[in-house]
Amino acid sequence: MRHLLEIDDLTVDELVHVLALAQSDDPPQVLAGKGMALVFEKPSLRTRNSMEMAVFQLGGHPVYIQGSEVGLDDRESVEDVTNTLAGFHAALGARVFEHDKVERMAALDVIPVVNLLSDAAHPMQALADVLTIIEEFGSVEGRTIAYVGDSNNVTRSLGLAVGMLGGVLRIASPTDYSFGEDDLARLRSTGGEVHTMVDPYEAVDGCDVVYSDVFTSMGQEAESKIRLEAFADYQVNGDLMRAAGDAVFLHCLPAHRGEEVTDEVVDSPASRVWKLAENRMHAARGYLAFALGELA
Ligand code: CP
Ligand code: NVA
Repeated sequence: MRHLLEIDDLTVDELVHVLALAQSDDPPQVLAGKGMALVFEKPSLRTRNSMEMAVFQLGGHPVYIQGSEVGLDDRESVEDVTNTLAGFHAALGARVFEHDKVERMAALDVIPVVNLLSDAAHPMQALADVLTIIEEFGSVEGRTIAYVGDSNNVTRSLGLAVGMLGGVLRIASPTDYSFGEDDLARLRSTGGEVHTMVDPYEAVDGCDVVYSDVFTSMGQEAESKIRLEAFADYQVNGDLMRAAGDAVFLHCLPAHRGEEVTDEVVDSPASRVWKLAENRMHAARGYLAFALGELA
């Protein structure tokens, strides 16, 4: 039984295979007559829709479950919810606050678990990120991705995926919001080249992709004022994109226009944000075809 809590739960060969399946226009009906439970403790537009449509395209039936409805560790323990859902479904996806909740679901080993975003990781986003880079440039290998902003769940998974596929990651974050040694060691364990810096202009110099995410992630709302101040110099705007030359722009979305990115950039010809959002569905379908079909 396979779980995807972080992107390096896949080997490099498996990642390449999942991306090939994502690009296939003949989805295997591996979920015919089966369901996938999708539990969300936080809001979602892209993840919910991409997962539901991927499950549908694989012949299955997705069941969306609001976190507040099941009350993970409140109405019922994470373990009791997982054991129950395993009786109905072929797979369980969960978007949680604490990463340890998806770890506890997976530890039971009663149903394949997919992390749909935790405070630590966002592997399904990273699959779509590298799929989009491959569609743009042919491969990730040798490409430089400049991530500008908070070192967070999205950065972590993106960095692992880019490293696994031979790309270079530069991360520009304020000192207090940059990765520590443990995170950097894990990112570099892929063999990937990772550079951290404070200056966003240094990060984007000669890069192929500029990547941005919100300054305040879901669950950090109480820090939003202090974060807005800390990240004041990390907005991806026209000046930064001009400094980046002919790089393309990616953002996992939702974008807080006027904060981490300007309208000018999101709506520019260099922006691939809608392509990236659509690729969430193709990537999800590729992963589920792999984990529930070929490995079943
Ligand atoms: N990028 C992403 O995960 O978007 P949602 O939060 O809308 O699912
Ligand atoms: N880092 C953001 C990503 C949203 C898709 C968050 O966790 O809220």
